[in-house]
Amino acid sequence: MSTGGNEGDPWWASAVVYQVYPRSFADADGDGIGDLPGLVNRLPYLSGLGVDAIWLSPFYPSPLKDGGYDVSDYTDVDPRLGTLGDFDALIDGARKHHIRVIVDLVPNHCSSDHPLFKKALAAPAGSVERALFIFRDGRGPDGGEPPNNWPSQFGGPAWTRVPDGQWYLHLFDSSQPDWNWRDPRVGAMFEEILRFWLDRGIGGFRVDVAHGLFKDPQLADVADVTLTNRPSAYYHRPEVHTVYRRWREILDSYPSDGFPGARTAVGEVWADSAATLKAYLADDELPQIFNFDLVRAKWSPTAVREAIETTHEFADGSRAPWVIGNHDVVRPVTRWGVDAARAAALLLLALPGSAYIYQGEELGLPEVEDIPDDARRDPTFRRTGGMEVGRDGCRVPLPWSAAGASFGFSRTDPDFDPAPPWLPQPPGWGALSVAVQSGDPGSFLSLYRAALRLRREHPALGVGPDGGDAMRWLDAPDQALFFARDPGFVFAVNLGDSAVPLPPHSAVLLASGPLGADGGGRATLPRDTAAWLTAGLQERPVLTAGVQERPVMCVRKIRAPSGRHGGADSGTAQGRNAGRARERAQPQARGRV
Ligand code: NOJ
Repeated sequence: MSTGGNEGDPWWASAVVYQVYPRSFADADGDGIGDLPGLVNRLPYLSGLGVDAIWLSPFYPSPLKDGGYDVSDYTDVDPRLGTLGDFDALIDGARKHHIRVIVDLVPNHCSSDHPLFKKALAAPAGSVERALFIFRDGRGPDGGEPPNNWPSQFGGPAWTRVPDGQWYLHLFDSSQPDWNWRDPRVGAMFEEILRFWLDRGIGGFRVDVAHGLFKDPQLADVADVTLTNRPSAYYHRPEVHTVYRRWREILDSYPSDGFPGARTAVGEVWADSAATLKAYLADDELPQIFNFDLVRAKWSPTAVREAIETTHEFADGSRAPWVIGNHDVVRPVTRWGVDAARAAALLLLALPGSAYIYQGEELGLPEVEDIPDDARRDPTFRRTGGMEVGRDGCRVPLPWSAAGASFGFSRTDPDFDPAPPWLPQPPGWGALSVAVQSGDPGSFLSLYRAALRLRREHPALGVGPDGGDAMRWLDAPDQALFFARDPGFVFAVNLGDSAVPLPPHSAVLLASGPLGADGGGRATLPRDTAAWLTAGLQERPVLTAGVQERPVMCVRKIRAPSGRHGGADSGTAQGRNAGRARERAQPQARGRV
């Protein structure tokens, strides 16, 4: 099912990958927490959407202090989410739909509930048990000060003291102790974990905090205690590359023919520069790393063009897949506005290479901004004393049906009363549900479905015949971006405040909103609208003999729910403008991960 691409390109080079945050996707047993059987039930939906693979965020046993990124057993399934048998059923079911499964791997840290950390706590200072983690004596009188000044990504210091007076390092929550990758037992353990899941038939891994792992052996103070993605005492240490060379050997030792084909690993690497990122993509290292340039970009022509060019400085989209959202950042609809998010979806899927879609993006879900404090789960909220609201707003369980308990998120048999979803859904959530949007040709969902279908069929899309970076900019008004991809494809987006003429084309394949017309009857692209075009030498009049040129689909905007909960007005003109204003004022959506 992979889009575009050439014989010899691995499937992942062009793949559209759908990120499933399992606790919020679909709940088959009605306990209010999404689970693997729920995901299996919904595979036909993902197949109908037209994705090539799923990236499954952590589903491992976990006390869920950080949404599962606090793993207490790397080779099992959390009982609230299912069993290993359910995992195998997922792989089987997905295969029947030609969908690969990429699983999240969390090698920088585990959960404080992990048996090896419990053993370390029970063992004395200097023991082999403690050597698997980063324990140190403190500074100051009685060692009462942390061993150094490193900050935790979630607020506060990166160290927590244990009863015998030592401290352990955690770059994230205190419930997430960092592994000591300088101890060879850690590397050996992770190689086994890799093989455990590869042997079960997965297509690869998403590697959490791939730039973490090794720390400065002296654990020296940093000059600047504000968080940085630059190479530092705690990020981008050169030793990390030896790990990825070894992992690449393991990935490549699995057959690349047949299903699921060549195995990938996509690193979550937040970095300051193309040079820092490029190192991870050496030919014998990670097949892929995310590029977060569009996530960080303002909705402006200069920022979006710069984001694309910055990525192309170090990779094409087949090695550095495009993303506009994930479970860590404010949703695009709220960041940029509804119309802009629709246009951005067409941009995402037109860029060369592979693209990731975060669950609910295809429904145009807004960030839920007013979750009550006592319902918030993200440790960021607690560790910053509420100064940062955290990431719960983009993790609210999906609406599947217009009405009913939890809008179809939990099982819906007539005499069953499911538990409330683990994060509250806003009252009007059902208006954005899969059921409502499926019947509406103008919905977000219909736009995504049409785009994914065209992407599969159009030879220029995905990697395209000329390789990953086969796009060329076309002349465009200052407020717009136009680019061409061969054969015969033109992309146009208007990021300004007034309509612009469409570039020369012979047909409109798809548009994110209604097109306009100028006084001479020529097609125009309204603000915050994108179009996929068939290249042509002549600009055609939009109105000929009373017939209006139409894109494949006629697009109407869907309104976000109204009500008390946050993001409620994101579907309205006011909400859209608020989104744009927010983004103009605050380019970095959320940067603590
Ligand atoms: C990145 C993950 O995406 C985020 O959700 C998590 O909190 C941190 N890494 C720590 O694992």
